[in-house]
Amino acid sequence: MSKQSIPIRMTAPEITARKGGTPIVCLTAYDAPTAAVVDEHCDLILVGDSVGMVVHGLSSTVGVTLDMMIMHGQAVMRTSKKALVVVDLPFGSYEDSVETAFKSASRVLMETGCQAIKIESGSYAPETISYLTERGIPVMAHVGLRPQSVNVLGGYRARGRDQKVATEILNNAVAAADAGAFAIVVEGVNTTLAEEVTQAVRVPTIGIGASQHCDGQILVTPDMLGMFEWTPKFVKKFADLKGETEKAVKAYAQQVKARDFPSKEYMYEFK
Ligand code: KIV
Repeated sequence: MSKQSIPIRMTAPEITARKGGTPIVCLTAYDAPTAAVVDEHCDLILVGDSVGMVVHGLSSTVGVTLDMMIMHGQAVMRTSKKALVVVDLPFGSYEDSVETAFKSASRVLMETGCQAIKIESGSYAPETISYLTERGIPVMAHVGLRPQSVNVLGGYRARGRDQKVATEILNNAVAAADAGAFAIVVEGVNTTLAEEVTQAVRVPTIGIGASQHCDGQILVTPDMLGMFEWTPKFVKKFADLKGETEKAVKAYAQQVKARDFPSKEYMYEFK
């Protein structure tokens, strides 16, 4: 491959260098057409394990597999050109040992071509983060509300009301940054804690339901496009895709039944 044909993507060190600078724009994507649009406007695309809920209709992210993440990562890599692409390691693919984490993460990088992975970061995470980073795998950490722990937490409520939990979240973030995470997603925490975490770590924080104090923002793309009636409080709907889809499908059904579709311009007529 000649030098000119290698796509110039944002890199993990470039994201780290944005700490305290222009806010980092991030969104999720799981498929090729969405990735092509998102790529134009985002610094970072996350192939999140939220795919399990917003695409596959699962009730949590716990059932998402490594093979699913790799398949969606490959789709996103095919049409994105500029953004840094990060793929989530799903539940069960990294927690038990650093060796398991390396096996999963290296498969993700080798089979998708993405540049980094994300892990939800409890007390086990710093060891994993430094192990992967030293072996060539950039890691984005994820603190605060950690959806893969829904069965321990008992739901998706914002975290950190309790001072003990707030301190634990702050400590997890500092430990993840010290272990070499290039950025940290901070999910579902109040404004004060988001600001404290952002000030305490030397790498960018990417907020989701974590106020404007973070160094960047991320949302789940189908949520911000208005694909779902119910969304968490922190989601601003920038479009009404559900409404638009309903209108389009209804019009299509009416036209098919009335034999108005397909009209002449949509037919093949050989001369
Ligand atoms: O899976 C995901 O989409 C995420 C975001 C919510 C940050 O982890």
